[in-house]
Amino acid sequence: MSKNTIKSVHGRRVWDSRGRPTVEVDIQLRYGAVGRAIAPAGASTGSGEAVERRDGGPAFGGKDVQGAVKAVNGEIHDALKGKDVRDQAALDQIMIDLDGTENKSRLGANAIIATSMALLHAAAAAEKLPLWQHLGSFLGMSDADTLPLPEIQIFGGGAHAARRVDVQDFMVMAVGAANYAQSLEWTADVYHHAGLIMEDRGLLQGVADEGGFWPAFESNEEALETLVRAIEAAGLTPGQDIAISLDIAASEFGSGGRYKLARDDREMDSDALSGMLVDWVERYPIVSIEDPLAEDDPQGLQKFTWAVGKRVQVVGDDFLVTNGARVRDAAKSKACNAVLVKPNQAGTVSETFAALEAARAVGYGAIVSARSGETEDATIVHLGVGWGIDQLKVGSFSRSERMVKWNEGLRIAEAIHAGDPALPADGNLPPKSAFPWGR
Ligand code: PGA
Ligand code: ZN
Repeated sequence: MSKNTIKSVHGRRVWDSRGRPTVEVDIQLRYGAVGRAIAPAGASTGSGEAVERRDGGPAFGGKDVQGAVKAVNGEIHDALKGKDVRDQAALDQIMIDLDGTENKSRLGANAIIATSMALLHAAAAAEKLPLWQHLGSFLGMSDADTLPLPEIQIFGGGAHAARRVDVQDFMVMAVGAANYAQSLEWTADVYHHAGLIMEDRGLLQGVADEGGFWPAFESNEEALETLVRAIEAAGLTPGQDIAISLDIAASEFGSGGRYKLARDDREMDSDALSGMLVDWVERYPIVSIEDPLAEDDPQGLQKFTWAVGKRVQVVGDDFLVTNGARVRDAAKSKACNAVLVKPNQAGTVSETFAALEAARAVGYGAIVSARSGETEDATIVHLGVGWGIDQLKVGSFSRSERMVKWNEGLRIAEAIHAGDPALPADGNLPPKSAFPWGR
């Protein structure tokens, strides 16, 4: 019996940023240390993700999580009680074996990831260390000394905004910022200027699921143009200070090699969509494109990466689903050059880390990411810093389930460098030298 011995695993139902039920887990250790985490939830999910357990039936549109909570308080509690909380990999494996399915659907990926992250928090609490710092020492890494570069949504579309535009995320990355705090300051300005421009044009319709403006644009390109104008209105140089990043989330509007862009009233094949995106890359200061083609179009992703992979970051989200084996396969065919790291896609902390290690082994970039359904849980920020991940994607610059992450980064930054934390070295970020604007 030690301070690291698990005394209890307690699950409860709480509510996420879309007002939907989700799973929170408290881990209590023998001499009082406590760890807590909450499962997030996606809306535009990849088919290869670990599967969350929902009750079905009439309550809350079938989205209740009483079954998952029961699994935490019953089977998972019984399996983990008395174990040493520092054995994260072994504890995750116990849950994987206990679940017994390929995709964690029996106990529920929501039950398992909330428990897995709560274990990590409890282990850090037992050491009286903030999680990011605990992770650094625990993995034998040198102390973290950089903050990830934020990737922040300005306009939200796709499945998060009733498909008012097809592209899901129009984001900015403050590639020229001197530090993390400045990247947020610049983004705040761009966000508010984007809102003013839209208000002026009578296009302001509220905010989408991740807090970005919900656009009523006539075309996808109108969003890109407005973004460039908002960067300039903030007194910043597009491409030099602030670059654009897109999540096309193409699986949401395409399958079988056919893509239907509702906003632009066009149906196109893989090559045509790819060509349209390459054209955007040539005309706008874009540094990163996520899921440019659908998850069932690996050849399309391969061709797109061949075409622009040296100039922009090509990120696999639905296609790679935070899965180490998939990352290795993708690398063989050179499809994508970066992976989105979402803990609940993998289902445990250990598997999330394995996907990150796979990415590093094949030279892929990594972006640690929140989901569209979020809460006050800020674990991903600690994973980002503690694991030395170079980029952080959390949604927009409004609503507290987003701001809690950006603000947590400020606290960590202060702890690291007494207020002047560095951002990752240029070499670890998407290339920014290829824009028409230059550097
Ligand atoms: P999701 O969206 O959380 O709804 O899957 C985020 C993303 O696609 O990156
Ligand atoms: Zn995505």
